[in-house]
Amino acid sequence: MSKTKIFQTYRFSRTNKKIENRTVLAAMTNKQSHENGIISDDEIKWLLMRAKGGFGIITTAATNVSKEAKAWSGEFGVYDDFHIPNLKKLTSAIHQTKSLIFAQLFHGGMKSPQRITGYIPLSASELNCNESATGKTKKASCIDIKKIINDFTMSAVRCHEAGFNGIELHAAHGYLISQFLGKKTNLRYDNWGGSLKKRAKLLVEILRSIKKHTPESFIIGVRISPEIEQLGIELNDSIKLVGILKNEVIDFIHLSCWDVFAKSGPSIRNQRTFTEIIIDSYKNLPTIISTGNIWSSLDAHNLLKQGADLVGVGRVAIGHPNWAYNISNLNYNPQRPPFSINELEKANLNRTFISYMKNWNNFVKE
Ligand SMILES: Cc1cc2nc3c(=O)[nH]c(=O)nc-3n(C[C@H](O)[C@H](O)[C@H](O)COP(=O)(O)O)c2cc1C
Repeated sequence: MSKTKIFQTYRFSRTNKKIENRTVLAAMTNKQSHENGIISDDEIKWLLMRAKGGFGIITTAATNVSKEAKAWSGEFGVYDDFHIPNLKKLTSAIHQTKSLIFAQLFHGGMKSPQRITGYIPLSASELNCNESATGKTKKASCIDIKKIINDFTMSAVRCHEAGFNGIELHAAHGYLISQFLGKKTNLRYDNWGGSLKKRAKLLVEILRSIKKHTPESFIIGVRISPEIEQLGIELNDSIKLVGILKNEVIDFIHLSCWDVFAKSGPSIRNQRTFTEIIIDSYKNLPTIISTGNIWSSLDAHNLLKQGADLVGVGRVAIGHPNWAYNISNLNYNPQRPPFSINELEKANLNRTFISYMKNWNNFVKE
């Protein structure tokens, strides 16, 4: 493998869209936007700085597809046409750089607090839920499911209209789509629960509907978590899910590993990383992005050696907006957190984002 592979251009096989290099800014919620869901200039500035810093792909924070899908205050939304003008400001600024821009579409499900949305949180089943005034989620009815599919679809259509190059469906981290995927959160016995195929039906129907309503050139991918114990998402099922997604013909699958170098979890005896296991399971997969605990050039190169096509990063790009540009230096090993408030302000984080980052262990120097 060439040591400079990370700087080679890359093409998605379905849409044939070109990426300038193999680096991806992973989605990061930053709470910098307006309460009506309009993306703020602060959030645009934060993303633009990373695009100027050389990332091949910029992914926005998770953005809610309906009012009831919202999980945090300060989250920008794509659930109404009135969001489009400011989203166009974002995409036209990013298109002045060489980066592609993707929106991460999401529904919080049982993690969408009623105090924020005004609605009882929806999920695959009736589950105990601290975010609900009743202490329980509402089990999604067939009408709710139809609306969820429509909300994701219309949001993707709006993203296309607003100038995004594509979308990433957030099917990871315990939000609504993963609540349908998980054996412990999806207790249904109808078309939408039971076997993995049925638990994955919501995700598949959303994908099919988005593909039907957006042009073929619009990039479509899915982010998954290989394992989430509390939800009953197990590696063996995730491997099968990748097979299901491969058959749907999408552009990419994004593995959210948290640590790309960790060996597989307790559900399978195997000494390989998640990325290796998933890549070794199929030929001709869609593009694989993998993310988690990458800091140095060496880390990035080692992830490419595992077989990932693209390298995703989160936290390192908060403190180091030019990370993608800097890894042209093969010895690049940037400063780790904690970062001072001054350093974070210089990296275009506003006050709200900086105080949010105080929740992340030892990230902000007090
Ligand atoms: C502040 C913050 C916000 C995040 N928000 C999201 C999000 O909106 N959607 C998502 O899929 N992952 C989110 N993540 C997870 C990151 O995308 C990434 O997978 C994780 O931070 C691990 O990568 P890292 O070790 O490079 O930071 C967030 C992470 C951080 C630090």
